Amino acid sequence: MYDRDQLKEIVDKALVSYSYYSGSDKLFEPVKYAVSVGGKRLRPILTLMACNLFTDKINEAVMPAAGIEIFHNFSLVHDDIMDNASIRRNFPTVHSKYGINQAILSGDVMAFLANECFLQLPQEKVVKVVRLFNNTAIEVCQGQQMDMDFEKKDIVPEEDYIRMIRKKTAVLIAAALEIGAIIGGAEDKDSQTLYDFGINLGLAFQIQDDILDIWSDEKVFGKSQGGDIIANKKTLPIIKAFELASGNNLRLLKELYSQKNSVEEREKVETVTAILNELWIKEVTTILADSYIDNALKALKSVAVEERKKEKLLNITESLVNRNR
Ligand code: IPE
Ligand code: IPE
Ligand code: MG
Ligand code: MG
Ligand code: MG
Repeated sequence: MYDRDQLKEIVDKALVSYSYYSGSDKLFEPVKYAVSVGGKRLRPILTLMACNLFTDKINEAVMPAAGIEIFHNFSLVHDDIMDNASIRRNFPTVHSKYGINQAILSGDVMAFLANECFLQLPQEKVVKVVRLFNNTAIEVCQGQQMDMDFEKKDIVPEEDYIRMIRKKTAVLIAAALEIGAIIGGAEDKDSQTLYDFGINLGLAFQIQDDILDIWSDEKVFGKSQGGDIIANKKTLPIIKAFELASGNNLRLLKELYSQKNSVEEREKVETVTAILNELWIKEVTTILADSYIDNALKALKSVAVEERKKEKLLNITESLVNRNR
């Protein structure tokens, strides 16, 4: 069984040697930058781990895993334009470094480069995998649309937030796992259970990301602290705060989140964070993230392979519980 570090190395190697963008073409310069500047490589590692549950020969899954990471990086390049983010993985975002037009175009080409990575699969798997991948990509775009729509809404019910993060984040993590399982030759039932594992892991992962956006060490997290607050994002901590606040706190929150407030950005972040701290929002939302981790672990338990083979997936899940980046 391969461990997380070995798989990360395999993925990183596949990404740098991917011939389509290794030339000196100006179009590919931001692509190389986006893909090589770091990142946990969580999704492709999950693809390879899922494959490795069912076979020792994970070679066939390496390029598809790279494709999933390229797609993820594409979504980040465009997400950073949409979220007006200037720092990612401790480096300037693609549009801050190369300009918006270059970032749009390099993001576009990454989406196609990702697709190309699946086409070497054998005939009997390729249609299934590409269909799952494309449907997932469409869902990610739907999720991103909801995320933007929610910036303008005063009240977002928790169920709508969960629906949104399921699409923008969880389905890609789920598909990464299912694709690995399909390539590894899993029975449908098991590949679908791994998808379900991935959905729950993905929901927890995005809730943690929303927590870290408020309470993290910028240098470790690699993104600007409070970006979601500045952008009026309706993340779970904010939804919970509106639910639990009363009196002066509620009045202040409403004022700060109204479209026409003129408070300076840093002051908004500080005031909102102070209210959230007073209401124990970090603790409240962490409980919810943990409940999705529990669901994920239950799903993993019911995959029909020997328990010892699941150890790597179990470890990576547990390592995400208290992640700080
Ligand atoms: C960031 O994903 C976007 C979210 C879905 C929260 P990651 O936290 O996996 O980012 P990298 O790839 O490790 O930088
Ligand atoms: C990102 O959500 C989801 C996708 C890129 C599809 P966020 O906007 O929270 O991700 P970060 O925090 O910028 O990485
Ligand atoms: Mg976003
Ligand atoms: Mg963002
Ligand atoms: Mg975020």
